[in-house]
Amino acid sequence: MQQELIDVILSRRSHRKFLPDPVPKDDIEKIIYIATMSPSATNSQPWEYVAVYDNAVKEELANAVLKKLELMSSNLDKDKDARQIKLISKSSFYFTFFKEAPVVIFAIAKPYKSVMDFINEYFLEEDEPSFAYEASIQSVSASILQLQIAAHIMGYGSCWMTAPNIAKREMGKIIGIHDNDRIIATIPLGKPATKSLSAPRRKSVNEVLRFI
Ligand SMILES: Cc1cc2nc3c(=O)[nH]c(=O)nc-3n(C[C@H](O)[C@H](O)[C@H](O)COP(=O)(O)O)c2cc1C
Repeated sequence: MQQELIDVILSRRSHRKFLPDPVPKDDIEKIIYIATMSPSATNSQPWEYVAVYDNAVKEELANAVLKKLELMSSNLDKDKDARQIKLISKSSFYFTFFKEAPVVIFAIAKPYKSVMDFINEYFLEEDEPSFAYEASIQSVSASILQLQIAAHIMGYGSCWMTAPNIAKREMGKIIGIHDNDRIIATIPLGKPATKSLSAPRRKSVNEVLRFI
């Protein structure tokens, strides 16, 4: 059992191509239930999830991202910034492929008042994000990974995307989130087109671990 769990965690991959098979709403509810059982700062649960099934809305969202990419390109100098312009056009797939997934889930962080807010003035350097802000981003992130693992166990592929955040204000308006809420990630989900993707290279444990 322990090895099985480890195998599940190790075999999760980021999926960017999906089959058109429908994803029942019950499955999304189950996946989000599991995501909401993740830890959060002072159990604040500062998350909200929006699952987009509507193809026209997905298209509108992807167009908002594309428009931002185009705006970025048009503000660059054709000669001086040729490398960046090429890079933007080459990587646009990694910003917009979510629109092809049967479901696109938005992970949203909601502001919350931490009982620890009073410590901000004692330990924060100038311009540092508040304790509650950092804790909310970390809480939502923990929940996103739990969502991805749950989806993987249930036979779905997903991808945690932050590139579309270049249009997070525009996307927030389209999916109707409150002004103070913040899109953390866009997560396309569906039956994966390819089941066994190989893992991108990882740094060795020696490179990332230090014992003291
Ligand atoms: C915070 C975060 C942001 C990411 N943003 C994107 C993204 O915008 N587009 C994308 O194609 N993949 C994105 N990814 C997926 C990573 O590229 C992927 O996790 C990494 O290459 C390792 O591959 P694996 O998930 O298959 O193990 C993101 C992952 C994380 C954790």
